[in-house]
Order: sequence, then structure tokens, then C-alpha cells
Amino acid sequence: MTTDLAHALAANDPCWCGSGRRYKRCHRMADLDPARALAEQAGVPALPPVRRVKPGQVGPVREVPVDIPRPSYAYGRPVTERGKGRPQDADTIARMRLAGRLAARVLAAAGAAVADGVTTDEVDRVAHEASIAGGSYPSPLGYGGPANPFPKSVCTSVNEVICHGIPDSTRLRDGDIVNVDVTVFLDGVHGDTNATFLVGGEQACDLLSRRLVRVTRECLELGIGAVRPGARVRDIGAAIQPHAEGEGFGVVRSFVGHGINTDFHCEPSIPHYAEARATRVLEPGMTFTIEPMITAGTPHHVMWRDGWTAVTADGKRTAQFEHTLVVTDDGCDVLTLGGSST
Ligand code: MF3
Ligand code: CO
Ligand code: CO
Repeated sequence: MTTDLAHALAANDPCWCGSGRRYKRCHRMADLDPARALAEQAGVPALPPVRRVKPGQVGPVREVPVDIPRPSYAYGRPVTERGKGRPQDADTIARMRLAGRLAARVLAAAGAAVADGVTTDEVDRVAHEASIAGGSYPSPLGYGGPANPFPKSVCTSVNEVICHGIPDSTRLRDGDIVNVDVTVFLDGVHGDTNATFLVGGEQACDLLSRRLVRVTRECLELGIGAVRPGARVRDIGAAIQPHAEGEGFGVVRSFVGHGINTDFHCEPSIPHYAEARATRVLEPGMTFTIEPMITAGTPHHVMWRDGWTAVTADGKRTAQFEHTLVVTDDGCDVLTLGGSST
């Protein structure tokens, strides 16, 4: 029903639905604001609270045992990233399967730590310890070059933070959404995966945030579904963008998926929107991520002064899911499965 009806009928008229009840006691509320009526039925708010995330205190750097091999940037060398994202050999892919599975397990452990009152630094601690318990180096730690290395082991991006949030003293609250982005470096290769968690579960969260998170997960699935040999990189974004925008959401353009192998980030870039120039043909053995960032409002971002944290320009919420995958002879394999709850 449209809101026109709400104006056409008087509050005490019989409802249009034939229930025999007065309009004001029946469908009037839903006609005026369907989202609110649905939310009332579900017993949660339709919209998230208007509240901005602020930078907290970043704790000391966590140590990685010296016997765990690290990527070259962890020694303070600039990130090289000169890989062209060519198909990887069977041995590298086999190692990436192990790195991917470990990343998925670390993500599940970090996600299980997400709860009301928990700081994002505590989530980082859980992920850091799970990464090193699995024999891996947490790839974000020290990444990005000597001028402003990422100071923590995972990214934690709360509510309007699009990506690359730095774990700090910020306490998660019921009804928040938080993305935890885990990358591990194991046996010379990286595995990269992330998921957005509802703090306190579905019942604690407003309907818009729940739909945003669900649609973002669907966008990742649609992107994965477009990957097969002979397809082009642009087919991935072409599968994602109409779904997000059809739901009234935005697709972030400034951050993209990426080739990943012995390098954390390399070619090709994987846009999550339809990009005609992304003509590279997918070949068996290519390994890359798909990691759509979907916004409730504008897809444009503002960068915090820390040089990492990217927030939506309008302060509305945003969600993300990520997997690392390998192109196979007839489609692709997702390498970052085997955790739980994602
Ligand atoms: N894991 C992120 C990605 O999906 C990259 C994080 S880089 C960091 O590409 F330095 F912020 F950790
Ligand atoms: Co990534
Ligand atoms: Co990632």
C-alpha cells in the first residue's frame, strides 16, 4: 500500500483490508511507514541510532614469536607488490588452501569474541593469538610501509567504518555491526577473509542494518558466482552492483578486491561495481579476493587522520564480506572456508 491511502482514509474509517477494524487500529501505521511497522512487528528499531564512531586508544604492538616467518614488509621494508597476479602453480595453490583455511578459523574465533562491552582491541588479541597458534604471521601487522605501518593484527570496522579500522579501546555495543578482516601469512602465502557481525545477534539489531549485512553477504556470493575461466574481471562487479543498488544501497569504489598469493595485494584489482575497463580474462590458477563494501547511504568515504580508517562520508552504516578464491577449470574454489558462522 502507498502512503496515498493513509491520506485518503480517515483514522476512524474501516480499514481497506476488510478486517472490519478501524483504519487507525489496523493498517494506517504500516501505510505511513512500512519499515517502521515491520520493525515494530519484529520488536526492534527500523533504523540504527545516530551515533558516530570515534577514534579510541590504540594499545601496544603485539609480539609475534621469532620462529614464525614473516613477510618482508614486517622487517620495515617498503611493500613491494610487484606480482602481476598470474596463475599460481599447484604447490602455491596447495599452500594457499592451508592459509585460507587458517584465516577462516581465525575469523571464526574473532567473531565468537564479538559481544556487548568487548573492545575491538580484545577482538584483535583473540585473532592475533589464533593466528600465531596456527603458525602464521598476522599479515596486517606492520603492513603499509614504514611511514605509517598498520599497528594491529586485524582490521575492525564498526558501523560507518567502511574498512581498515584499527582495533582500539572502543567498546562494541549491542546493535552495532562490526567487520573483522583477517589475513594470515602461512608458509609464504596469504589468506584473506572478512565478515560483518551483528553485536548481540539479529535480535539486538535494527532492521536496516540486518538487511544491509544480508545483502552484502549476497553480493559476495553473486560475485563468486561470476568467477569461471574465460569470464572477465568486470563480470564480478557486474553481478554485484545491480543487487546492491536494487536494494537501495551503494557500492564503494575506492576500495577493491585484489590479487593475493605470495604478495598480500597485487594485480588484478577487482572492482565491485560494473567497470567496463576491467577486461582481464580469468584463467585457472589465478588467486584473488572479492570483498564488496556496501553502504546504506553514500558510497563515498572520508579518511581519518590515522591514515587508515575509512568512514562513509554521510555517517551511514556499511558492511563487508570477503573471501580468497582460486579460479578452477570449471569455476572457482573458495579458499577461506572451514571456519564456522561465516
Ligand atoms: N585485509 C585487507 C584487505 O582485504 C587489507 C588490510 S591492510 C591493513 O585487503 F594494513 F589495513 F591491514
Ligand atoms: Co582483501
Ligand atoms: Co581482508
